Amino acid sequence: EENHRESLMIVSGFAAKFFQESMWETDEGKSIGLSYFKERGFTTETIKKFELGYSPDQWEAFSSHALKEGYQQQFLVESGLSVLRDNGSLYDRYRGRVMFPIHSFTGRVIAFGGRTLKNDKSVPKYVNSPESEIYHKSNILYGLYFAKKAIRDEDNCYLVEGYADVLSVHQAGIENVVASSGTSLTVEQIRLISRFTKNITILYDGDAAGIKASLRGLDMILEEGLNVKVVLFPDGDDPDSYVRKVGTNAFKKHIDENKKDFILYKTDILLKEAGTDPIRKADVIREVVESIAKIPDSIKASVFIKECSHIMQIDERSLLSELNKMRLAKA
Ligand code: GTP
Ligand code: MN
Ligand code: MN
Ligand code: MN
Ligand code: MN
Repeated sequence: EENHRESLMIVSGFAAKFFQESMWETDEGKSIGLSYFKERGFTTETIKKFELGYSPDQWEAFSSHALKEGYQQQFLVESGLSVLRDNGSLYDRYRGRVMFPIHSFTGRVIAFGGRTLKNDKSVPKYVNSPESEIYHKSNILYGLYFAKKAIRDEDNCYLVEGYADVLSVHQAGIENVVASSGTSLTVEQIRLISRFTKNITILYDGDAAGIKASLRGLDMILEEGLNVKVVLFPDGDDPDSYVRKVGTNAFKKHIDENKKDFILYKTDILLKEAGTDPIRKADVIREVVESIAKIPDSIKASVFIKECSHIMQIDERSLLSELNKMRLAKA
């Protein structure tokens, strides 16, 4: 079993090297892959540190090289690097894409995200490795290996949506940053972070249509006893585009001036939606108290009750009695 996992990691490491060589040492790689990353503003240091690469725009470049080097078909397929054809031959999953290796906690390559360079809506922007014995995406945070020391030092973890956000924010000198990479946040990911800090600051894309949908998902972070703050970016910007546009200092300033505690942020959004309708306002109050009821620390919870009673202009005692009712119902 350990041998099996080790074989998958070895083939993934080999692939990361292959994608790096394909980018740095071939004309196609340099003129397409490397220049893409450079145009996005990534420095050589960042590109090397995160082991970024390029997959040649051919059907079998990687697979045939790997077979020739003696890698077994089974591991090429299980790792998702190669796909098995009906006729028994292999083709490459990643073709003509820039490659973002995904590292384990200890820095080994366990999976990949590959970004298309085409402006074509009919191809997926990112192709990711399938689940395997070494890659369970619900347990992985992109960038954690490079961020964990800074997360501990800063006692805070920035959570972003995408690979490029991690790279740009890290490159700007803010190294305590990880991404959930497309999937909605899981309990396992929260627990990973909570080994290093109890403070999470979520940096959402300005275009995030899913902000409201994610509101309920974030209650899970409260249940784990973590403190959650949220920062929004201007419409159309994500942390990557914003930090490149305004620079590190203005980026930090934006975070400081706009970070809002999750509960208060949620209260604001829901209240705005409810407008003056008393019935909808009552629903908002219940929903907010429901979130507060998930905070294990009862002193912290009562502080939120106080703040929300101001925002919602409702008597603190009635919020407290609602909170107690919910707690009893849960117990
Ligand atoms: P860039 O355009 O490279 O800046 O990407 P982004 O990271 O800003 O992408 P976006 O905000 O659209 O999506 C956030 C994250 O969701 C990405 O980094 C990917 O991990 C994931 N994602 C985006 N598009 C796709 C897709 O088509 N397929 C899959 N599987 N994941 C995607
Ligand atoms: Mn096995
Ligand atoms: Mn987005
Ligand atoms: Mn982006
Ligand atoms: Mn984005």
